[in-house]
Amino acid sequence: MRFSTSTGYAILSTLALFASNIDAKNSNNLDNSIPVFKPYNGELSNDSFFEQFDQGWKSRWIPSAAMKDDKLSYIGEWSVEESIVLNGIKNDKGLVAKSEASLHAISAKLPNVFDNFENTLVLQYEVKLQNSLNCGGAYIKLLSEEGLNYNLKNNLEFSDKTPYIIMFGPDKCGNENKVHFIIKTLNPKTNEFEEHHLKSPPVARIVQTTSLYTLIVRPDQSFEIRINGVIVRSGNLLNSDDFQLTIPLEIIDENDFKPKDWIDEKFIIDINDTKPDDWDENAPYLILDENAVKPDDWDEDEPEQILDPFDIKPEDWDDEEDGDYEPNLIDNPECENHGCGKWIRPKIKNPAYRGKWEPKLIPNPDYKGEWEPKLIPNPDYYEIKNPSNFEPIGGLGFEIWTMENDIMFDNIYLGHYIEEAENIGNETFIPKLNSENKIAISNDPNIEKPNSPNDPYLQSAIISDMYEYALDHIEKFFNDLRYYLVDTIESPIETLSQRPGEAFFFSSILIGTIGSFIGFWTLVINISAGMLNSYFENDKTAYAGPSTETKKKLEEMSQKLESIESKQGSKDSKANETTAVKR
Ligand SMILES: *[C@@H]1O[C@H](CO)[C@@H](O)[C@H](O)[C@H]1NC(C)=O
Ligand SMILES: *[C@@H]1O[C@H](CO)[C@@H](O)[C@H](O)[C@H]1NC(C)=O
Ligand SMILES: *[C@@H]1O[C@H](CO)[C@@H](O)[C@H](O)[C@H]1NC(C)=O
Repeated sequence: MRFSTSTGYAILSTLALFASNIDAKNSNNLDNSIPVFKPYNGELSNDSFFEQFDQGWKSRWIPSAAMKDDKLSYIGEWSVEESIVLNGIKNDKGLVAKSEASLHAISAKLPNVFDNFENTLVLQYEVKLQNSLNCGGAYIKLLSEEGLNYNLKNNLEFSDKTPYIIMFGPDKCGNENKVHFIIKTLNPKTNEFEEHHLKSPPVARIVQTTSLYTLIVRPDQSFEIRINGVIVRSGNLLNSDDFQLTIPLEIIDENDFKPKDWIDEKFIIDINDTKPDDWDENAPYLILDENAVKPDDWDEDEPEQILDPFDIKPEDWDDEEDGDYEPNLIDNPECENHGCGKWIRPKIKNPAYRGKWEPKLIPNPDYKGEWEPKLIPNPDYYEIKNPSNFEPIGGLGFEIWTMENDIMFDNIYLGHYIEEAENIGNETFIPKLNSENKIAISNDPNIEKPNSPNDPYLQSAIISDMYEYALDHIEKFFNDLRYYLVDTIESPIETLSQRPGEAFFFSSILIGTIGSFIGFWTLVINISAGMLNSYFENDKTAYAGPSTETKKKLEEMSQKLESIESKQGSKDSKANETTAVKR
């Protein structure tokens, strides 16, 4: 085996570096590993709106001071603050509805009117139900520009009266749980906005970690709802399974009445049908069974019941006052095995019984079918061809009632670009959720994992978790080793005699690791030497893989690794216990 001092030195310094790194990492607690907020720095088109409640939000967001009967309608308070539950990103602020059992309303005017004519609409925002949600809304409204202008002219505050174009997001109360997707379209006949709800909406995620809700409406009228990046519902605004945007093309003619001579009796009595001569309507249903015979052992003289011989007159019975004493009747024990009393002939169903005769029914030859009023064109019908050409949007807002407080909203995006929303999700939501999940798991190992296994965001989280897991184990190994060495230095005889297994375990791992390193480098050197040789000697034969000697070494290495792995498995738990006690 070729082995130089410098190779050994390189290996040892690599190990030392590893150990010191891990040592530094170990001194950090979980709190220090929580990422710190950085403003989103991805590119956004100048017609996209994005709010992460970092700077300048105060000038944009205005809580509603709408009044009703001289009282403030929306008494719920708003705050821009850090998350108070599973805070995944330090210094990351969001908009929080602070009051329980209250109406909340807040809105922001868009810097530019959002026009979706022949374009894609992408609306995305985060919801964090910090206090869960039993009954309350967490939906967002895109507000009509016209409506906002009207409010402005008339000094009106944002309220449930402010016209909106789209309403989207979670709403839950008791067993009702849905992600609203409501659009408003203008009825050209009445010139009024009409509200259309998505049929069979998806359910909202009721978890205390952050959830990302995305709505996409394309110019081909297709739409998509995503939760945490996963499509949970898709469809088309013009498909009647998804929305009913307009009224029926035809209606029933109210002036059409059923003609008097309309025959709608399907069957009539067959007048040619007559009662057969042998039909006896008076034949009884039951007759005596003439074939029955009295059993031989039937004793007609034996009564069925007798006076109870054990029922004796009580001592305080007064014949004059209470009358003659009468004992109870009991079933005659004599009759247990044979019949007693008068034998009565049983009855059977009369085979001649036919009941009342009725003529049979036959199909009515004059039957004209069920009458139905005729349909006429609906005078109120209107066509909606391109519902995705929404009316201009001038602002957005939350106008909700909620029983549970501390609903947090963040990273609100409204734009025309799916990729921008996805990128925002990748850069802001995923690290946040990963961090929140990590905190949740560290808080409670039995916590229900809030993600479904198909969640692509979860999959990326799993990969980073696996990496973390591997690092944690390497870290643990070096920690255990460190504590063992410290103990050995402090009291060598005691430690080595009482815990010889660990000495064997650590040294075999170290020797195995060093051996693998050496083997690896030897292999590399051998291969390169072989390649160089063939190159310099201008050998016609190309490099044909490792030599038999190298192959043998490879085999030895893999065997060694296997034995180390199996040893680690059995020693690991034992090593844990002893070091934990020592610490
Ligand atoms: C946005 O950018 C485009 C092209 O760069 C420009 O034509 C347009 O006027 C800009 N819009 C606004 C509202 O600034
Ligand atoms: C009854 O019988 C007569 C004579 O056979 C026949 O013309 C008539 O169509 C029958 N009516 C029905 C209701 O079957
Ligand atoms: C977001 O992340 C996913 C998964 O890593 C990736 O496939 C996708 O391209 C990313 N999207 C954007 C817009 O960066």
